[in-house]
Amino acid sequence: MENILVTGGCGFIGANFIRGILAEDDFQGRIINADSLTYAGNPESLADIAEIYADCYHFVRADICDIKAMENIIREYGIDTICHFAAESHVDRSIAGPDAFIQTNIVGTFRLLELCRKYANQLKRFHHVSTDEVYGSLGAQGLFREDSPYDPSSPYSASKAASDHLVRAYHTTYGIPVTISNCSNNYGPYQFPEKLIPLMILNALEEKSLPVYGQGLNVRDWLYVTDHCRAIRMIMEKGSSGETYNVGGHCEKQNLEVVQTVCDLLDEIKAPETVVRRRELITFVKDRPGHDLRYAIDCSKIERELDWHPAESFESGIRKTLAWYMENTEWVHRVRSGEYLSWIRQHYSA
Ligand code: NAD
Ligand code: DAU
Repeated sequence: MENILVTGGCGFIGANFIRGILAEDDFQGRIINADSLTYAGNPESLADIAEIYADCYHFVRADICDIKAMENIIREYGIDTICHFAAESHVDRSIAGPDAFIQTNIVGTFRLLELCRKYANQLKRFHHVSTDEVYGSLGAQGLFREDSPYDPSSPYSASKAASDHLVRAYHTTYGIPVTISNCSNNYGPYQFPEKLIPLMILNALEEKSLPVYGQGLNVRDWLYVTDHCRAIRMIMEKGSSGETYNVGGHCEKQNLEVVQTVCDLLDEIKAPETVVRRRELITFVKDRPGHDLRYAIDCSKIERELDWHPAESFESGIRKTLAWYMENTEWVHRVRSGEYLSWIRQHYSA
């Protein structure tokens, strides 16, 4: 892997992935980050990286659906590896307006695969970053395995399922060297505060209401983001072409428990002023339509075959995450106020 194209590298997981790979002592390649900078893409999450690694990190504002722009990147930088993160990622937004999800997640992935076909002579690996949501919802028992049937519930998960099928079809039909990872819920630094954990941290710090959907009984399997990024690197380096790997944290928690933990840890760090305990801020609100009850991952394949294991427990990861959001007040302020979008408008014409 010498010239790695990372799509969606200004988002939450992509930015953590780029940070991780550039920090590796033995990394000798180049990272080309292609991101269209939607509301979820924030180049400020990589501002220091762009300076420190100016010789081996390059950013190009480009839409993955724009085949000419993507082809220019693949040709100009001699791309031999693609790690594909770019997506519309938020389930609630997909329910309110699915269009962008179909475009980016399905059409965008299709365009990239077509380019993989055209540049097959130089391409060593296309890694597709996907989600456990493609498998649908579990009841009280069971775990998602790599051979679990697909049964997506939301426009988001249906669009990711479609993209997974395309990736597999391009391997089977055209022999494109692909790998796929289906991962559970990530949390950690640089996550956009529309997702459960950062939203709850920031609202709880400001002693605002904490909206929990339904009764808060839905279960998610939480994984600290750097563990996911390390899994992706290992799959790209050691995973077999055509294979899928499930990635998870062995960390099932009901949403209410997650929010209560955030409240209790923040109470320890900084006593609230308007309530006795932050748990009082929890408000049960209307449930998400089609809300999947439970996700849980069997990640024994990646543990057995690639010797990957999560390094962080929820206890250590959530403390790191709280500390990060409390320390990085400027990043938080610029995201919450929308100032990062003005910066993008100033620096990049649309
Ligand atoms: P994110 O929403 O934080 O970031 C998405 C990035 O993609 C943004 O930088 C955005 O600007 C960019 N992007 C969107 N549309 C684009 C387009 N048309 N062209 C180029 N760039 C575009 O998402 P995330 O949470 O970092 O997720 C990254 C990937 O990981 C997604 O594919 C998602 O499905 C998958 N995933 C996420 C989680 C999770 O818990 N967040 C778990 C499993 C899998
Ligand atoms: O499972 C992997 C998926 O995890 C990824 O593929 C998605 O990109 C990522 O967004 C995430 O999806 P979820 O829908 O699980 O994440 P979200 O943070 O939106 O919600 C987590 C749980 O918390 C879910 O059961 C809904 C609930 N929730 C969420 C929000 C934003 C609330 O109760 N209140 C909220 O305000």
